[in-house]
Order: sequence, then C-alpha cells, then structure tokens
Amino acid sequence: MNESSLDFDVPLEQVSAEAAEEETHELRSVIQRHNHLYYVKGVPEISDAAYDRLFRRLRALEERFPDLITIDSPTRRVGASPRTDLPTIRHCAPMLSLDSTQDPAEVLRFDERVRRAVEADHVEYLLEPKLDGVSIELVYERGVLTRAVTRGNGLEGEGVTDNARTIPSVPLRLREERPIPEFLSVRGEVLMPLTAFEALNESIMEEGGEPYANPRNATSGAIRQLDSSITATRPLECLGYEVLDARGVSFRTDWAVIEALGAWGFRTPERAERVRSADEILAYHGAFQSDRDNLDYEIDGIVIKLDDLDERVDLGSTSHHPRWALAFKFEPRKEVTRVERIAIQVGRTGVLTPVALLLPVEVGGVTVARATLHNREELERKDIREKDLVRVQRAGDVIPQVVEVIPEEDRTRASPFEMPDRCPNCGTRVQISGPFTLCPNRFGCSAQLKGRIVHFASRSGLDIEGLGSETAALLVDRGLVDELVDLFDLTVEQLLELPGFASKSADNLVAAIQGRRSTQLRRFLFGLGIPEVGVSVAGDLAAHFRSYEALRDADEDALQAVRGVGPKMASQIRSFLEDPKSHAAIQAVFERMIQLDVPEVRQGEGPLSGRRFVFTGTLQSMTRARAKQSIEALGARASSSVSKETDFVVAGEGGGSKLERARELGVTILTEGEFLDQLKVETPGP
Ligand code: IVH
Repeated sequence: MNESSLDFDVPLEQVSAEAAEEETHELRSVIQRHNHLYYVKGVPEISDAAYDRLFRRLRALEERFPDLITIDSPTRRVGASPRTDLPTIRHCAPMLSLDSTQDPAEVLRFDERVRRAVEADHVEYLLEPKLDGVSIELVYERGVLTRAVTRGNGLEGEGVTDNARTIPSVPLRLREERPIPEFLSVRGEVLMPLTAFEALNESIMEEGGEPYANPRNATSGAIRQLDSSITATRPLECLGYEVLDARGVSFRTDWAVIEALGAWGFRTPERAERVRSADEILAYHGAFQSDRDNLDYEIDGIVIKLDDLDERVDLGSTSHHPRWALAFKFEPRKEVTRVERIAIQVGRTGVLTPVALLLPVEVGGVTVARATLHNREELERKDIREKDLVRVQRAGDVIPQVVEVIPEEDRTRASPFEMPDRCPNCGTRVQISGPFTLCPNRFGCSAQLKGRIVHFASRSGLDIEGLGSETAALLVDRGLVDELVDLFDLTVEQLLELPGFASKSADNLVAAIQGRRSTQLRRFLFGLGIPEVGVSVAGDLAAHFRSYEALRDADEDALQAVRGVGPKMASQIRSFLEDPKSHAAIQAVFERMIQLDVPEVRQGEGPLSGRRFVFTGTLQSMTRARAKQSIEALGARASSSVSKETDFVVAGEGGGSKLERARELGVTILTEGEFLDQLKVETPGP
C-alpha cells in the first residue's frame, strides 16, 4: 500500500459514499501499518504530523459516514462509552501461572525432570524475560480482535475488550503477512514503561491523588477501568508470547508461535533465545539480571519453556502450573535504611502485626516506607529495634521485608521492642496464640471492622470500586458503618458529609455497592473473611455447594468432601459459621444479596468420562495439545505413560516404546482415523 495513492484533495463534503468506503479502507490499512512500525517495531517511517493528518482524515470520513465505522478501525483506539461493570468471561483455555524459583539448583533439577520425561536425545528450551505486568487473553476471530480478558483466577477473568483496543501495540486486526486463522487466542502481558509510569505518578500527585506503588499496579488499574477513554490516556504496551487456542493453524514449537505472533503484528518478548543446556540457561539469567536496570520496563526473572509443543503435552500440568516451564526469578533488590519507629497494626482477624516505619528508601524503582515485622517471634529472632539500621528487600508484589539489622559500633541501641498487652485500638487485653498476638474483641474492635470492610470490598471479594482502606476508616470512624451489612444502607447524602467526597464520587460508591448485590458466590464467600478461606478455597466451596445456604448447613464431613479442605480447615469453617455473632452478621449480609451466581463447570463429565488416553508419535490432523484438549472436553484424561489404567493409546506416525508397552499390556491401540471417530461420539442430549 502506498500512501501517495490517497487523494486528500477531495474536500470532505464532496466525497461520495462509495469513494468514502474505498478511502476509509485504504486509510485504515496505511494507518495500521504506521502504527505497527511505530509501536511494535519502533522504526517509524513518517512524521507524527503526517500520521496525524491521515488519522484526522479517517476520523472525519467516519464522522460523515458513520456506517463505515468498523470495530477494528484505528479510530476506535480512543475508547468507547463507559461501562457500569466488567463482565466475567471464561478463558478459552486455562491461563495457568508459572512455578518459580530463585535457586539455580532447582533449575538443574527442572532440567533433569524434563529430560527424563521427554525421552528425547536433546531438549530445546525457549528463554524469555519474565515481564512484570498484567496477563491478558486476546481473542481474534477471522483476524479481528473481538475479546480481551484479564487473567483473573486463570479460568475466568474480566472482559476488558474496549480497554485493550486503546493499547497501540495490540493489533486490532492481524497483519496478513501470514494466513489468518479462523480463531486465535493469544496470551500476552500488558505493561507500563517505567518512564511513563513515573510521569503518570507525577501528574496524579499534582492533582492531589494517590500515586501507584509500582508499574504493575498502575497497569492493572488502567486495564480494569470502566471508562476506556481513561485507559486510552495511559501509556500501556502489550507483548504477546503464547497461543492459548487456535483453529485453522497449528504449531509444533513455541519458537514458531513467537515468529507467527510477530508476523501477525504483535510485539513479542525481546531477546527470546533457544538453548539446549542448563549452563546456557544460567548464562541467560545472569545476563538479563545485570541488564535489568537498563530496560524501560520491569522484569522479575526469566521464563524457561520447553520449546517442543508435543513434548509439553507429555509433561502436562498441575492445576496451577505447567510442568514444562519454570520462572527463574532474580534475587530481590535490597537497600539499607533506618527504622524510625515500630508501630502496631490491627488486622481484620484481630492479629496485632508489628510494622517498621522506615526512612523512605527506593528499592528497585519503588519507594518503601514501611515493612512488616510479622509477629512477636520474628521480631525477637531478628532483634529489630527502633532506630536500627536495617537491610530491606522487595520481592515482586510481596510487602517489603526487613532482612537483617546492620550492626553499628558507636551507637547505643534502643531497648528491645515489646508487643503491647492491650489492643492499641480498643484497649482489650490481648491473647497469645503461638507466635501471634491477638485482640479477641472481634465485633467491638473498630480496626477489625475496617479490615473486614476492606476485605469484603477487595478485588477478589465483591470488588467494590472506591471502597479502600481510607474510605473504610472514615465510614467506621464517623459511625456510618457498624457492621458489613450497613454498607448497603449508605446514602449519597451521608457520603457527601465525608471529606474527599463530591457528588460524583458519592454517587459512584453507592452505585458500586448496590451493583455488587448481584455477584458470584465465590466472591461473596471470599469476602466474608471465613478463616482459611482464600480465593481458591472460596471457588472450590462455591463450585461444590452452589449456594450459601448449602455451605452454611454443611457439617464437617460434608465440608471435607470439598477438594482441598482437610479436617482442620473444616473445623475452623464450621466454628466460624456456628459462632452466633458471625452467623448473624453473615446472614444479614446474605439477605441483602440479590443474586449469587455459580458458573456451570463440567469438568471430567462427558461421553468419554474417566477414560485415559496416551498419545505417541506425530498426529497429522492436529497437534498433541489440541488432541488432548479435545478429549478433555469430552471428560477423558491424557497421561504420558502407558499403564494398566490406560484405556487407549493413540498411535501417530513414528510411535515407539509406548506402542510396545501397550501391546504388552493389551491396551487398545487406535490409529489416528479411529481416534478422530472417537472424538465424534454423540454428546447425550439434554
Ligand atoms: S508463559 C503457563 N512467558 O508470569 C505458562 N509468562 O508468574 C504461561 N509472564 O501470569 C506463561 N512474562 O503473566 C510466560 N515471557 C513470559 C512471561 C510470562 C511474564 C507472567 C504471566 C504469568 C506470570 C506467572
């Protein structure tokens, strides 16, 4: 395409509908090309002014002929109308997380495990930087971006399509440098460059706002905006690194995936390399670690991935992470500073946590001013006292920690810090439980109530925007909220009395609270703050019991039937739900909920339920990953080795020892054709 063929001389008013159609079409592809050159390749060919001229012309044409607007038009990157909620969307394949280590010995063990499992002469790994951003799924149907979903809990996330469209390096339409598959789901990482992050924080502070703690938080906030025109103003970038699912194209190696993503117009991780030995992995890690501070975005390690996609299927995954990949993290960055004071924080569960208030220090680009000292035992063990010089470290998103005290010869130290014997918030005498110090005044201590509100409203809970710790503290201190249920009765007038609230923010908060009366059961269960019930247990409880009442009425045996719930957890959950005060508090909140959804999951159910497959050799019609997905969708499982439990061995071309073993054990062997027939099993009707 050549931009000189574009005739700008025809004044807008004189362009016919037909000519406009042709011109918008050409303009889009020219603009897309320059976008790609500028944002993905970093080698612009025209001036900003020339680009703006093309862009303005396209916008003017679209304004005059709105029928010509398409969802993949570059003008759509400015954002769409604000939403009231982000929909929950299921990923087309689970977005697993990565197992991680900092220990080179662990990397060697990983390498050995992989070699044992794949039984190949040589193993090839793909190495990439581990980008410290926000993971996202981008779905393309016939080459057009139709859906973008945050990682969420790995199975489902938040639909952020309008927001993703505003990110210049996200292709709105795949480039036709290679055939466009009918369906493509890409996993990538959204990031904010460090320089842009600092500029953003400065402008936020100028307007009296709270700066973001790190680029990842800023990115996460930006991508989850309800108003995509705000996302459009945030300097986000996106890199693609994995294909989650595809129809109409298949790959044998990850390297080929990365190449294809590049050809389709994605930015891909820089300096990706293929290596064959553990030594090369260690060298790559070392090189990136020393270069880390020269990059304009945060990386927190490297990712080691088995390159051959069929071999990956052999290794398989746990429910959390694949066995064919490992994140090899960098050592956390450490700095030295001084403890100014030790304060006590009272949390949602009544635990008193000592916190070091530090002379602010920058640790790897983030200012650290406080660090948790965990509990009495930890404090005694490290012997941290007020005014001590200490080494602090920040590891990823973990709260900063004090590593050790640095001895100073000429200074007399303060006396050892002692935990108070009364709750600093409500004055109740504390109880000691192992290393912990507890305030037992669960329903009378306002600090605990504030913590409960924050937890209830948190991202994994009801996800009430605008209800953070500052607002929670105001609501409690002003007597507007005495228990969680009071949140539902808050009015705009009441909020307007609070400092920092204007009519828009007050309206928004009331609407956000009311809007969350319909939510998912797992969010509700998490938000209640039941002891031991974190995000994943809440999800399992929701999937198992399917209603709050069923959980409430379950005895310990019934609780233990849930995956991941042992006797200790069951008894803790039971005694919490039985406690008259917590029972009453939860029941009151429950009665205000309108709807608590449980998604339909049909894992392991299907016409091939319980059947075990083993694949060997190369299939002609699909990759092994695809084959595995297909049988799993029908309820079957794939395993890597043949045993008595195996029902079918699918023999592709060149299968070896697994076939022999199958014959020995008398396991049914399917040709590829017979296997395809198995996949066509009729699904039972409704
Ligand atoms: S591969 C199942 N490659 O790290 C494995 N992940 O701690 C798929 N991440 O949530 C992930 N850079 O968002 C992969 N080059 C990279 C990555 C990467 C960053 C993130 C990813 C994941 C997290 C795991």
